[in-house]
Amino acid sequence: MTAEEARTITPAARLRGELRVPGDKSISHRALMLALLAEGESHITAAGDGADIRSTAGIVARLGATVERVREDGRTVDYRVISPGVDHLRQPDGALDCGNSGTSLRLFSGILAGLPISATLDGDASLRSRPVARIVEPLRLMGATVAGRDGDALPPVSVTGRSPLRPIDYRTAVPSAQVKSAILFAALRADGRTTVREAVATRDHTERMLRARGIAVERIVEADGSVTISLDGGGRVLPVDERVPGDASGAAFWLVAGAIHPDAALRIFDVGVNPTRRAIIDILRAMGAKIDERITSPAADDGVGEPTATLTIRSSRLTAIDLSPVDVASAIDEIPILCLAATQATGTTHIRGAGELRHKESDRLAGIQAGLSALGADIRVDGDDITITGPTPLTGGPTDSLDDHRLAMTFAIAGLVAGGSTRVARPGSASISYPGFFTEIERLRA
Ligand code: S3P
Repeated sequence: MTAEEARTITPAARLRGELRVPGDKSISHRALMLALLAEGESHITAAGDGADIRSTAGIVARLGATVERVREDGRTVDYRVISPGVDHLRQPDGALDCGNSGTSLRLFSGILAGLPISATLDGDASLRSRPVARIVEPLRLMGATVAGRDGDALPPVSVTGRSPLRPIDYRTAVPSAQVKSAILFAALRADGRTTVREAVATRDHTERMLRARGIAVERIVEADGSVTISLDGGGRVLPVDERVPGDASGAAFWLVAGAIHPDAALRIFDVGVNPTRRAIIDILRAMGAKIDERITSPAADDGVGEPTATLTIRSSRLTAIDLSPVDVASAIDEIPILCLAATQATGTTHIRGAGELRHKESDRLAGIQAGLSALGADIRVDGDDITITGPTPLTGGPTDSLDDHRLAMTFAIAGLVAGGSTRVARPGSASISYPGFFTEIERLRA
């Protein structure tokens, strides 16, 4: 991350152009981790090159794989990973540094739980304030020795694995793909069949990627939207070549920018449109956004692989929307930029049950309220609910990313449509998931 103190964004006369976004962050993490578990050579094309993925790549190397960057373009990177296989990983000296990445910390906890290794996972000040009891509990039930700081509430997390682990049948308390994935990774090393039950579907990349690597994963979606995922332990993860689609959560910033700017037309190539990640597209469309979607790689109906599309967005007239806690879970990373869209929509938007946003890279409820209010928006946070009334002309003003990438990018996009200039403090956090974001802003407004 750069130590840049602030950036000033001035209003854009127009937004035009074609672009590609970094490789999907969730898929890039998992591709590197699964390459570590698979004996032999894996190739990962177009992974995101943000700081979070670099943290995961560093840990994969510390645990004994050779990780080579074979091509890079500032936004994406191709990796070649050669692993000795899950039974020959290395005991690391010292803590494994997850940086700012909650996904690295929680998913590696699940991986380490089933290995004959003792390791500590740690990270920056933000990561040290993020909840981990949600993974400590299931991994302990499986038989691993796991401990966190402050009564198992916070990182660092130390894990001493056990092999084999005990299979569990576990209902997650919060909708979290990270918790589900940690359990599924541990389940690979369990002596029997593990089941994870979710009240609300979360992103299913882990399930798809395990299947692509030879592991039979069952995923059953019930009529009420709850999901049951099961797998038998003891399977071997095979090395594969994977191409990572563009990150829908990165594309979200441009979809909102295009929709709320009065003179915009943007085309985004190769965006992942997995049904468990595409809520941002469908919510914006329900608000009136003119998004054209051309599928470039269809969803495989056997639940392997990821569908992609080219998305085109044009200036739109938005109307307010009501989002339920289920909608929040399906667009969890897109709520900050959706709040910006709501400031420009006619009517009152209600977003209910957004409490999980307090536990992200910052307290996003507080951060988004402070930043958008400073720009002149009408936004209220009551408990876990957000209420935004629009359209309000944004004035520009001082905002603070709180060192949170999604807030930095939200406020920068706000600056493109504001009347005056917008100051974004601590903008360097954008490179956690989107290296080159500010360069792209300059190119698309030119
Ligand atoms: C992620 C899951 C989500 C999301 C995060 C990435 C993943 O977190 O916010 O950016 O890759 O599994 P939670 O599982 O904590 O909701």
